[in-house]
Amino acid sequence: MPSIDPAPVKIDFTKYFSKESTGRKRSQLKELKPYSEIPGMISFGVGIPHPSTWPVNGMTLSVPFAGKSVYIPGHESRSPEDMLPLAPYSDPVKGDHLFPDLAGELQYSATYGTPHLLGWIKEHIQRVHAPPYQDWVNLCTAGNTDGVDAVMRAVFDRGDYMLVEEFAYPGLLSPAATLGIKCLGVPLDTEGLVPEALDEILTQWDEKERGGPRPKMLVLVPTCSNPAGVTIPVQRKREIYSVCRKWDVLICEDDPYCFLQIRPDGANSPIVPSFLSVDTDGRVIRVDSFSKIVAPGSRLGWITGHQTLVEKIMNTRESATQCPSGFSIAAIAAILRAWGSHEGFEKKYIPHISDIYAKRCLLMIDLLKKHVPSATIELPEPSGGMFLWVRLKIESHPSFPSEDAEVISKRVFKAMIDEKVLMAPSEFFKAPSISTWTKEEEAKRNFVRISFSLPPPEQMEEGCRRMGRALAKEWKL
Ligand SMILES: Cc1ncc(COP(=O)(O)O)c(C=O)c1O
Repeated sequence: MPSIDPAPVKIDFTKYFSKESTGRKRSQLKELKPYSEIPGMISFGVGIPHPSTWPVNGMTLSVPFAGKSVYIPGHESRSPEDMLPLAPYSDPVKGDHLFPDLAGELQYSATYGTPHLLGWIKEHIQRVHAPPYQDWVNLCTAGNTDGVDAVMRAVFDRGDYMLVEEFAYPGLLSPAATLGIKCLGVPLDTEGLVPEALDEILTQWDEKERGGPRPKMLVLVPTCSNPAGVTIPVQRKREIYSVCRKWDVLICEDDPYCFLQIRPDGANSPIVPSFLSVDTDGRVIRVDSFSKIVAPGSRLGWITGHQTLVEKIMNTRESATQCPSGFSIAAIAAILRAWGSHEGFEKKYIPHISDIYAKRCLLMIDLLKKHVPSATIELPEPSGGMFLWVRLKIESHPSFPSEDAEVISKRVFKAMIDEKVLMAPSEFFKAPSISTWTKEEEAKRNFVRISFSLPPPEQMEEGCRRMGRALAKEWKL
């Protein structure tokens, strides 16, 4: 046997990588991280939930001593008297989907999920969205990142086109690029995706010119969108839906912020109806998550759609995650139960969460009005969620049009970093586009995404002050 030379051999790992891992694109938002580590930086850059909205004060795990098994009646196990501490146990109540069922939750389940949580999800979807067709089913996922990834893998081949919003979530654009899917942005206005623009793209589609068939699916974020913060009104949704029906395009609604929309009258303000609730054909795949309403670390969500589509999507999960995390299901079921199931969830808990973000959103608007010169920015009509999509008035910047809008907006970003305030520039979210804009129109499509979900109010105010200073300097005010 040859001995091993102790001098390490340098391995060229690149030759081992598959096309998928070599082509993997990371989200541009990751580029903000080094800036966020600069001491004293106030970050409005990333949108992460506020921990005060996580409905958990602590967790108790009842762990039997070594050599003893958990007491689950009906299964071979020791008597509860052998265990310390004692886990309270009572028999499930018939029809209570949320009753703890550790024997089922911690077992391998069907890839779709455990029957009791699926039972709760089905009732929830029926109560909130009431899909107007019969054959819809649910599939548990590890959250919306996982859900949308599974949808894309089930629908697209490499080289296919996918329709997205003009400014789209990088967590959609990057994995799509990795899978070899070509994204095409559809223009947005203040009510979200513009149906006429969608129709025009599909009408004008020329397979030869585009190098591929008409897109099969549109993926969008319908509520408090990321990045644009827009909630698409139901009438606009119907218009988008009929264009998709005309061209036989599927719709994937990635809706993690559904319950974070501003509801001025709490539970009495109805939520804006979803695409699923107007879906008579079964062409909508709705993707929901517990990330923004329980906690991102729960890694649990679900998909709703026509059973034929969902079965295909399920197949991609079967070979990846096998089934959802039983620990997560056990925790979420316990939380939903503690809130009082559907009634408590809809009438008390959800309005409470949206109120926390609504207050932060309205405070941020007030602070921007107070500290940032109105000659430099245009504020949006807020709809809730975690983001404000603030337009930079590049068209009135002193160097425009002699300098390009892109150059100016990069300098504005740098000026804000120098003042130690961080936000995400719109170029991070820009999807490839076939729309043509004049120089003036292009200048008007420059934004920053300001996240108001996490910083304390004093930092929100100081951050806006810094932003105001940076922009006043840039605009020479
Ligand atoms: C539009 C959008 N989709 C998906 C996600 C990720 O959701 P999840 O934590 O459920 O994977 C986010 C936010 O993080 C998002 O903004």
